[in-house]
Amino acid sequence: MKTAIYAGSFDPITNGHLDILDRALKLFDRIIIAVGKNIEKNTLFTTEEQIEMIKTATKGKNVEVNAFTGLLVDYAKKKKIRHIIRGLRAVSDFDYEFQMATLNRRLSHEIDSVFLMTDKEYFYLSSSMVKQLAAAGGAINDYVPKNVRIELEKKFK
Ligand code: PNS
Repeated sequence: MKTAIYAGSFDPITNGHLDILDRALKLFDRIIIAVGKNIEKNTLFTTEEQIEMIKTATKGKNVEVNAFTGLLVDYAKKKKIRHIIRGLRAVSDFDYEFQMATLNRRLSHEIDSVFLMTDKEYFYLSSSMVKQLAAAGGAINDYVPKNVRIELEKKFK
């Protein structure tokens, strides 16, 4: 059974994340979605809310959803996992991802980052964009699953 970790802030999970997840599930038998803290980002949702939304949005898929604190590579080692999935959208993601993957490799040589490209439909989609749209009352149906749309609408009611 090959398992990988798909790590991110997921604040909230979007259709772009789900697209990456489906691609990852073609390469691995099981994916652990690991909600982590990016210290550069303030979150709109609590970790518990993020996890609940992910669980609902991924129902029926071979997925486990967890939160982690501390270093991602330490979490991966604890879970005995050697592959970390990250999604790539536009070229602008590359620098940040390259830095993170290089740092993670320095921290733990056995763990590899696996980059998957989103469908072109999601190139410019991010959780931040979705939050901005939702906050301004814009339509977000095309960008997030229904359960997430409902939670976003509650936040900005
Ligand atoms: O979706 P994001 O915000 O790009 O996810 C970033 C995340 C949470 C995966 C990253 O910040 C992370 O791994 N945080 C845990 C701390 C860590 O291991 N840092 C070293 C790599 S930058």
